[in-house]
Amino acid sequence: MNDIDFAVLASRWLHIGAVVVAIGGTCFVRFVMIPSAKAALDDAQQERLRQAVRTRWARLVMMSITVLLVTGGFNFVMLGMRSGVEPMPYHAFFGIKVLAAFVIFFVASALTGKSVAFDAMRAHPKKWLSLMLVLAAMIVLLSGAMAQLRGAAPGPIPALSESPEG
Ligand code: HEM
Repeated sequence: MNDIDFAVLASRWLHIGAVVVAIGGTCFVRFVMIPSAKAALDDAQQERLRQAVRTRWARLVMMSITVLLVTGGFNFVMLGMRSGVEPMPYHAFFGIKVLAAFVIFFVASALTGKSVAFDAMRAHPKKWLSLMLVLAAMIVLLSGAMAQLRGAAPGPIPALSESPEG
């Protein structure tokens, strides 16, 4: 019987949990909150709602980024380095994934922060939230490909003629 590694299981659980919270929230803000606020509230009320949401959402964003960095680093050591997976293309996928994740973290921090340097970004939230969602979709795909490369997720299914039963 194969054993369960509880540290790896907990790390994967936290990692995917943080993804669900961060990307689910981003989807909600982009496709539900902003259009609904525009339809139902005047400019001043929209601004008040934005300020009220910002502080709470910023806390969740920071927590998700921290969890993703810690569990992602742990995953890389435990799954990427100790599994003996071939470095290529696993490490290339990992590099692209981390770069894309850093772009998402930067945009999320700019949108939820108070710095005047990023006022121009906060003036067009839909554009930046869409970019985050496209990058996140790419990252989830890359992560699935990395799991397949390690042999941890279903890969190509052998044709019937190649199966042991013939
Ligand atoms: C927006 C950011 C991120 C998203 C959406 C994301 C998504 C995911 C998902 C869905 C998996 C599970 C793949 C599977 O088993 O099918 C995963 C695994 C993993 N993540 Fe992330 N992740 C993010 C950030 C990070 C960061 C910042 C790191 C590194 C510091 C990282 C490192 C890893 C590693 C090493 C794995 C294991 C891949 C494997 O199975 O070999 N992730 N990630």
